[in-house]
Amino acid sequence: MQLWKGRFQKALSKTTNDFNSSISFDSRMYREDIEGSIAHSKMLGECGIITKEDAEKIGEGLRAILADIESGRLAIDPEAEDIHTFIEGELTARLGDTGKRLHTARSRNDQVAVDIKLYLKKQCDEVSKLVEKLLQVICVRAEEHAETIMPGYTHLQRAQPITFGHHLLAYGEMFARDLQRLSDCKKRMDVMPLGSGALAGTTYPIDRTITASLLDFGGITENSLDGVSDRDYCIELAGALSIIMVHLSRFSEEIIMWCSWEFKFVELDDAFSTGSSIMPQKKNPDIAELVRGKSGRVFGDLMGLLTVMKGIPLAYNKDMQEDKEAVFDAIDTVKMCLTAFTPMLDTMKVIPQNMRKAAAGGFINATDCADYLVKKGLPFRDAYKATGELVALCIEKGLTLETLPLEEYKKICDIFDEGVYEAIGLEKCAYERRSQGGPCPDNVRKNAERLKASLNK
Ligand code: ARG
Repeated sequence: MQLWKGRFQKALSKTTNDFNSSISFDSRMYREDIEGSIAHSKMLGECGIITKEDAEKIGEGLRAILADIESGRLAIDPEAEDIHTFIEGELTARLGDTGKRLHTARSRNDQVAVDIKLYLKKQCDEVSKLVEKLLQVICVRAEEHAETIMPGYTHLQRAQPITFGHHLLAYGEMFARDLQRLSDCKKRMDVMPLGSGALAGTTYPIDRTITASLLDFGGITENSLDGVSDRDYCIELAGALSIIMVHLSRFSEEIIMWCSWEFKFVELDDAFSTGSSIMPQKKNPDIAELVRGKSGRVFGDLMGLLTVMKGIPLAYNKDMQEDKEAVFDAIDTVKMCLTAFTPMLDTMKVIPQNMRKAAAGGFINATDCADYLVKKGLPFRDAYKATGELVALCIEKGLTLETLPLEEYKKICDIFDEGVYEAIGLEKCAYERRSQGGPCPDNVRKNAERLKASLNK
């Protein structure tokens, strides 16, 4: 059924109808559509645009439709043009002329905009909850490994010793920012477009403050053209979701590396790994790989939205119907990834002795060796040069800074004494990095506490 058939002599062809229809993906907004219509009809009644009785009947009719959809008594018609058409059509089938009054002073253009905003506001909360769960697990695991030594890397080359807890909390900071981004996004979304009409508002004496308060919006859009043609909130949310995927993907990449025999820093629980159909020895980190791979979909959704919006003139254009699949897919994908990733991290077995072993190779205490000389009065550049020569000497002799005899140290720089061995001990190197934001165990514990406290606000 089309709502606009008066002007037309022919029905749409089946293929055109299928092409034009959005019901297969916008039916998920049936609740929001009904909620928006109930508020709109109530406002129409209160403003005397329709009678109070009609408003009452429309409200009841819409609530009955909602109950029937939820209970499965009413199936959503896949042939309908969109969810708005379907619900209005059903209301009219049930109430006759009264149902036909619902769309007074409204257009599908402001209707769809308000539906999407209502839906996305809820989704911001749902995604946030999943991110919060992940952040909670990150904090717990970080506290557990506040003292676990691991090599920190730059260029994927062993660089300086850190704690595993500190490494995990780097992701904690990222996801904490993601939570802020989702909440900012929701704030900007919280402005009601209903009442913008098709594009130019309406001559009816509507009161938008009534609908805004019924629908729990914090504000009301101030330009009707913008009200119906703005999709910044879809783009912004897809952007925030894309950044979440960047973080999940980087984390996944590290977990995948850590699972390899080359690292073996961690082992995933059997429940989160898969085997190979041919290689009996294999235990593959498929979940982490899939999360990494699915980031591509979400970035694609963001690019799709940007591209749909960039060239369309004001105000509404049908191109904008493409907004929904993209933003819904981004939401679904991120929720799925978070749901899979969090328990995988929670159950991941950490192998501290392998981290320790890796930290002991690769001269990651060379900076501390140089710092030791600096503390004894040598300028940093000279200390750096002397330590570089020591590293070269160790490589030549197949030794490490820990195993190089003191007389060799003294040959390169006579300031060295026995104290150097304590200064370059890995625990000392990591635990003494107490500068604000550094990897020492106290900082890890303090920051995990802070991040957890931020979750309870
Ligand atoms: N299904 C449409 C969409 O999602 C609803 C708005 C239709 N408006 C119109 N003028 N054709 O964008």
